[in-house]
Amino acid sequence: MILEVQQLHAGYRRLEILHELSMHLDKNEIVSLIGANGAGKTTTLRAIAGLIGVNRGRILFEGEEVQNKRPDRVVRAGLVHVAQDRALFGNLEVWENLEMGAYTQSRSTIRSSLDEVFDLFPILAERRHQKAGTMSGGQQQMLAIGRALMARPRCLTLDEPSVGLAPNLVAQVLQAITAIRDTGVTVLIVEQNAKQALAISDRAYVIENGSIVFDGRGAELIDDPRVRQAYLGG
Ligand SMILES: Nc1ncnc2c1ncn2[C@@H]1O[C@H](COP(=O)(O)OP(=O)(O)OP(=O)(O)O)[C@@H](O)[C@H]1O
Ligand SMILES: [Mg+2]
Repeated sequence: MILEVQQLHAGYRRLEILHELSMHLDKNEIVSLIGANGAGKTTTLRAIAGLIGVNRGRILFEGEEVQNKRPDRVVRAGLVHVAQDRALFGNLEVWENLEMGAYTQSRSTIRSSLDEVFDLFPILAERRHQKAGTMSGGQQQMLAIGRALMARPRCLTLDEPSVGLAPNLVAQVLQAITAIRDTGVTVLIVEQNAKQALAISDRAYVIENGSIVFDGRGAELIDDPRVRQAYLGG
């Protein structure tokens, strides 16, 4: 296990959103977290990233407790989050945004990280001098993922990476996520496009009201009546 969430209770100030939530990721898996609007998916990723406090329970990354660590410490540990809003620097160029992602890295590794990101997303190499804010939604999402990779994560968490994208770009982003996993990065993904996310996932967890209600193999859950009815439109 690379990431283990044990009986987590977390939320916003005194408002507890996650109750007794447990899940884990084995090394090199793609795992989906699916659930209805407001179920607590974003809150789960935020707690793992150190962006909100944990009241009870533990988050173990490579065996070390990371709950309630500062977000930059979590990044340094090798666990990197891509938020839904992407949080790019719109007035900075593509390559500058990528460099920002490498703030935990030594000068010498930045060069090779850049090459790897440009290999994965050639459009970012072509547009390296374009301002991030002027790029299309799909390109911005690739940049957000690329920036996260610049921190050389061993585990990547992604909050709805394909939201708002045209269908061909959804497929492209999910394909890139598979390619990232194939380089040895473990991935936890929250997706509205549950069917497509499940298709690339080894396993998935279903969250309701801040707790995991069931889990299974990705391909199996696509055919599970409970998932079909609630999340795949019947
Ligand atoms: N900053 C906040 N302060 C207080 N409550 C919040 C905050 N952010 C989210 N919540 C509440 O926490 C609950 C879970 O929200 P969360 O964003 O984790 O859901 P989600 O599963 O990601 O939903 P969606 O599919 O809409 O993205 C909701 O009831 C939401 O209103
Ligand atoms: Mg959300």
